[in-house]
Parts: sequence; C-alpha cells; structure tokens
Amino acid sequence: MLALDSSRQALRYDRAMDHAARDVTTISSPTAVAGPRIALLGLGTVGTAVAQRLLDPAWSAAVAARGHRVPRLVGIADLDLERDRGLDIPADVRQVTDFGELLDEQVDLVVELMGGAGVAGDAVLAAFRAGKSVVTANKHLLALRGRELEDAAREAGVRLRFEAAVMAGVPVLGPLVDQLAASRMSRIRGILNGTTNHILSTMASDAREYEDVLAEAQLRGYAEADPSSDVEGLDAAYKLVLLSRLAWGGWADVDTLRRGNPTLGSDVAVGISAVKRSHLGAAARLGLSIKLVARAERLADGSVRGAVTPMAVAAGSPIGSANGVSNIIELIADPAGRVSMAGPGAGGAATSSAILADVLALSAGAGSSWGQLPPAADLAIEDDLVGPQGWLVVIDGLGALGFPESVKPLALATTDEAFVTQPVTLTELTARSRLFDLAMTVYPVLVDAS
Ligand code: HSE
Repeated sequence: MLALDSSRQALRYDRAMDHAARDVTTISSPTAVAGPRIALLGLGTVGTAVAQRLLDPAWSAAVAARGHRVPRLVGIADLDLERDRGLDIPADVRQVTDFGELLDEQVDLVVELMGGAGVAGDAVLAAFRAGKSVVTANKHLLALRGRELEDAAREAGVRLRFEAAVMAGVPVLGPLVDQLAASRMSRIRGILNGTTNHILSTMASDAREYEDVLAEAQLRGYAEADPSSDVEGLDAAYKLVLLSRLAWGGWADVDTLRRGNPTLGSDVAVGISAVKRSHLGAAARLGLSIKLVARAERLADGSVRGAVTPMAVAAGSPIGSANGVSNIIELIADPAGRVSMAGPGAGGAATSSAILADVLALSAGAGSSWGQLPPAADLAIEDDLVGPQGWLVVIDGLGALGFPESVKPLALATTDEAFVTQPVTLTELTARSRLFDLAMTVYPVLVDAS
C-alpha cells in the first residue's frame, strides 16, 4: 500500500526532483520506491498498452528491481470509458472524460496519447500551465506545434519527452541528443513508417498491386481505416521534422517537405500510392528495392535539404533489405560515423516501452527530449531532389521501342524496362526524356546505401 505524505503531494513534482533521493515513500516491497502519479490521456491502442503495464504488479516489480521509482496510474481521461479494453482498472484510479479534471495536485506527470494536433495540444499546454511535465508519442502534434510546445514547456519550467514519437520502441532521439552529443550530425535517413514498408515489401515479395495489398492490410488491422497519413508519407515526414529539430536546432514546416517523386507528364505522385508492381520488379532486376525513405542532410554551407519519397535502394543494403513493419534509421555523424538502429516502429507494446522509459527518465530527474540544446529556431528544409543524383527510370514500353538514344549517355545500367542514371539533375533527365513519348516514373537512388 502507498503511504504518501499528503503535504508533499502538494509540491510540484518537477521542483521536488532535486530532492528525489530524500523525498521517497516506501511501497509494499522494501526496496521499491513510489514514483510519479500518472494521468493518462487517451485509452486507444497505445494508451491501453501503457495502462496494462502501469497496472501490472510484475512490471512494477521489474522496474523497481532495476532501481527505478515505480510510477502509479492515478487517472485516465478518454471520451469513451465504456468500451472494454481488457483492463482491470482499480476503483481508486479516477476515470474522466474531461482531461482538465486530472490536472490537479494528485497528479505529477501527464502521458498524452490522444492523438491529433488540436485537443491533444490544448491538453499538453494545460498540463504545462498546471506545472506538469508531459510524455507524448504524438508526432502529428509535435510536427505541427512543436515550437509552440517547446516554448511553453521552457516558459513553464516543465519537461516534455517524446522518444516514442519516432520509431516507437526503438531508441533514436535519446542517442541522437545524448550519446551522439559529441558528434556533428550530417545525414539522417531511414524507413520511418511501418505500414508503407509492409505494403511495399509485400508488393515486391508477392508480386501484387498497391490497392490489393493496402486493402488486405486494412482488413487485418495493419493499416488504419484511413491510411492517408501513412501512404502519403505524412507520418514519416512528421518524424523527420522531430529528428531534424534535435539534429539541426529548428522546427521545420512539415508542409514544405517534398513527399513525392515527379512523374513525366503528370502531377507529383505523393507517398507510395503511385508505386506499381512493375516498378518493384524492374528495380529488383537491377539489384534495387523501392523503399519510402525519409532523409535529411546538412550541407557544408549549413543549409538542410530533405524529403520523404520512394527511393531506389541497393537491395542487399540495411535499408534496402528492411522488410515488413520494421523501421530502420541511419545517423551519419562526425566523428561517430554511420550509426544505425532498427526494430518494430509501431504497435502498442513497442510504443509503450518508449513512453514508460520516458516516464522513468522524468522520475529519475532527466530533462526534456531536447536535452541541453538551446531553444529552437525555425528550420528551412530545402528540396532534396534539386541537385544532381542517380535515378532509377522505369519506362512503360521501353523494350518495344528500343533504348532511346537521347538518354544513352546518362545510363549506367539498363534492362528492357528501366535504367539507372549517373548523377544528373532532374531538369536534364526530363529534357532528354521529352525526346521520346513514353510514360516514365523516376525514383532517386540512395547513394552509399551498402
Ligand atoms: N502508422 C505508423 C506506422 C505508426 O505505420 O509506422 C507509428 O507511427
């Protein structure tokens, strides 16, 4: 049983952190120490996975055994409290539909898992005003309102942690800010969305079309009923905004990030929706995979360029061979070199791991996810497709026509349906390709992928 000193409950949890070693209360195990009292906002898939662990004595015992103060769930806010989530919620855990009711002196930390950038943002700001630090997995909210939230957290003297917002349970923000603090980040690239990677790798392995695989993924619950944020590259773009904030000091405007490759004679194809089974086959015959790659690079002049588009990647490389719902990221930094992490980038269980680790970190006195970084500026991310680069060009009907003379000088490798170019600007490639009248799709080639 908890035996909290009520006069101490009135202390703002953050201010009390420095005294954590003295300000302890024993719970049932003689070695376990009571940690923060948690209000959980949002009881969806991830919220339920977090609640499960917070309510599980075995989980509490395990974190106590690793020397952590044990967090305690004291309140849940959700609009639908009737739905059965398979949780056995004790009577003393307050359940409310209005998150504001939980922002009182009986709560130390808020875990925001409502999703979206509207009400969730209001909840986080209200928590800050009430003196509560916040853990969130909400990449949408952070990408759209990150600067506002960071400013508000700094102003209120509270902390905001969001490790789970990028690659779920795979630690990347902590290593980027802390363990790589002595290195200068030059490039970030990877597969940051599990849904699209599942779709592309299934299309490739089973030789099926996009619409067919997406429909099946929705039926099986792998893809959202409204998958637009995933398949249009927005979810990965949100994550790239967060990574860029921590790597290069500013919050970028997600709307300025390119999310599609050009197609000759038609509009830009956003995300993966224009990737065809035939493109994946053509790429494979040239030793390439097509992957939705989020990338950003800091150039020597200090500018940053980036994009989230399908790319042609060496099939045997770590990024080219990451299949299914896996995520992978490569951080290229000096003097650290190329550091990569991979693992499950989605799902309740994996995401709850990062959220709860952030709770434990706050409980142990850690700062915000931006660590010691100075307050953020705004960051411009320029279009990654502007400079010369290699391209995979897939042309319907190329075999029948014979290889066009106009592009021959550019081609490094060719088949009957596609070719890979040497580094060339899109403008030059387009100009040469206009000389023949065939539908053509281009994918930038990820260099140095192996
Ligand atoms: N929809 C996301 C994905 C979930 O598929 O990766 C994690 O952000």
